[in-house]
Amino acid sequence: MAHYNFAAGPSALPDAVLTAARQGLGDWDGNGQSVMEIPFTGEAFARIHDEAVAALRQLLAIPSDYRVLFLQGGAYGQFSLLPMNLLRGFESADYAVTGHWSQRAANEARRYCQVNIVADGATSGFTDILEWTEWSLDPAAAYCHITSNETANGVQYRQWPETGAVPLVADITSDFLMAPLNIRRFGLVYASAQKNAGIAGLTLVIIHQSLLGRALPITPTVFNYELLAAANSRVNTPPVWAVYLAGLMFKWILAEGGLEEMAVRNRRHARWLYQAIDQSGFYHCRVAGRARSSINVCFELPSAQLQQQFLVEAEARGLHNLKGHAAATGLRASLYNGVSEAAVSALLAFMHDFARCHASAV
Ligand SMILES: Cc1ncc(COP(=O)(O)O)c(C=O)c1O
Repeated sequence: MAHYNFAAGPSALPDAVLTAARQGLGDWDGNGQSVMEIPFTGEAFARIHDEAVAALRQLLAIPSDYRVLFLQGGAYGQFSLLPMNLLRGFESADYAVTGHWSQRAANEARRYCQVNIVADGATSGFTDILEWTEWSLDPAAAYCHITSNETANGVQYRQWPETGAVPLVADITSDFLMAPLNIRRFGLVYASAQKNAGIAGLTLVIIHQSLLGRALPITPTVFNYELLAAANSRVNTPPVWAVYLAGLMFKWILAEGGLEEMAVRNRRHARWLYQAIDQSGFYHCRVAGRARSSINVCFELPSAQLQQQFLVEAEARGLHNLKGHAAATGLRASLYNGVSEAAVSALLAFMHDFARCHASAV
């Protein structure tokens, strides 16, 4: 039986990337060493690092006045590292709260500065995104933070807010590399790697160079963006294996046709899934059409008992990790780049069968 992984992260990796990774596990460079064993100060790792950065730059067409940083500590770590690195000379930052992760980002930032909540999605139960023209933006804020795709709630921006001279900062963890992104719209974006850029352990920051040098004195050396940029992300030992995997993922996306192709595939998969939900009269998605995530499709069944049964039967059909986030009550199918068309088709067939069997009992 085929097995398919719909996890929200760590999530499915393409078979081709896993096959290539097996090579890195063994005698990678002909000297009997695995990638995991090479010194990070050496020429071999410099090559791995530089190739990964170059592939990412190509994928996103990152302008030359932006720096790519590789860190550790996850996107959750960035919730603190961002304010630490960007606040010098400022007292406050703007946060749009659209779900579980932006809420956490705002909560962490409160340790370091005054946080202005410019939009609060809690009023809609995090099922929609308030039009940015209605936001109460502060022109004196150090930055304005958004979460481009809320992994737990399944809401996603379709349009970026205009923040004037205030740099727009985005947690792009769960829609990173799912579609082309105009980096020029942002002062900084960041993402954990374990959705679309390989495995956990690596965090990526893309920052405009004008924002380097704004760190508070309390910022730890190993997390200081300016020092990281100066040291090519090698202030201390980097997550060598995770950087290698990220490079493999970037090259795989390029070989598959780049971000335009990823976007075409993702939109197709999401359209099929939402259509199946909306037309079923059985499954239900609470998120407003205009804000629905094409990546983390959240849906519910008529009862908690049916949801549990759905998960059990899905597992038996080889469809794994469809349980929703603990902060949401329903189910969730995550459609990252590593999720194949065969996986989505198998899920649709199962949803159809499950609805046919159980709809009459409702
Ligand atoms: C949008 C978003 N931000 C932040 C995080 C936290 O990432 P990490 O656990 O790698 O710190 C996640 C995790 O799923 C996420 O989806």
